[in-house]
Amino acid sequence: MSKTISLTLRVWQQNGPRDRGRLETHLAGDISTDMSFLEMLDVVNERLTLEGREPIAFDSDCREGICGMCGAVVNGRPHGPEKATTLCQLHMRHFADGDTVLIEPWRSRAFKVVRDLAVDRSPLDRIIMAGGYISAGTGAAPDANAIPIPQETAEKAMDAAACIGCGACVAACPNGAAMLFTGAKVSQLALLPQGRPEAAQRALSMVCAMDEAGFGNCTNERECEAVCPKEISITNIARLNREFLKAGFFSRVRTPARSGAGKAD
Ligand code: SF4
Ligand code: FES
Repeated sequence: MSKTISLTLRVWQQNGPRDRGRLETHLAGDISTDMSFLEMLDVVNERLTLEGREPIAFDSDCREGICGMCGAVVNGRPHGPEKATTLCQLHMRHFADGDTVLIEPWRSRAFKVVRDLAVDRSPLDRIIMAGGYISAGTGAAPDANAIPIPQETAEKAMDAAACIGCGACVAACPNGAAMLFTGAKVSQLALLPQGRPEAAQRALSMVCAMDEAGFGNCTNERECEAVCPKEISITNIARLNREFLKAGFFSRVRTPARSGAGKAD
């Protein structure tokens, strides 16, 4: 049954990437437990605006767990306390009246704070631009059985394709690695016949883009898998490593040197 709760929020506020930032305290009173976490922040922001103060900046779009735009570290955990749940799908019923809630942005060398809880996740876009596509002409929709694909393979590709690019895996990783994200994006294409022609170049280019963006390397902490709202498995990191090594052996393209690259095998 729905009820109302009141919380004390300790929110990271930072005017831009060069500002030092600080924790500010806000009261969130009369919050319905049916609200989502973002709706709770909307209520706080409405009150701040009516008082003539700056609202708390945060990202969101679909608010349905689909787009990957939302994200903040709540009480030390990316996307908050509920497993397999984005921040926009986290409900206030998971908090108790009188709780103090610590809210921080994704913290990673590769993600610069734009303002408060909003961070620049364009480094993930650059990894996709480096190879997260196929160049086969699409044309008209082919017959569903034109290229037979074993169901188990199709399921694995679909599971990898569930990644919404939120960046929680990076925020959770002590090394700030984007291996789970990149592994998912490489896997969803490498598993299917349509993605094989460019598989080698894709693995090399995406790993190169990942390193250039300043992401760290995987040391098998598995924090990424634990916080991923789409439950992307670290077997995708192992597949990324295999694709990368295969590309190095069999392709004429030189394998970029890596320091301690992904050890999730
Ligand atoms: S792997 Fe999971 S946590 Fe990482 S970007 Fe994709 S959906 Fe988000
Ligand atoms: S706002 Fe789209 S996933 Fe949360």
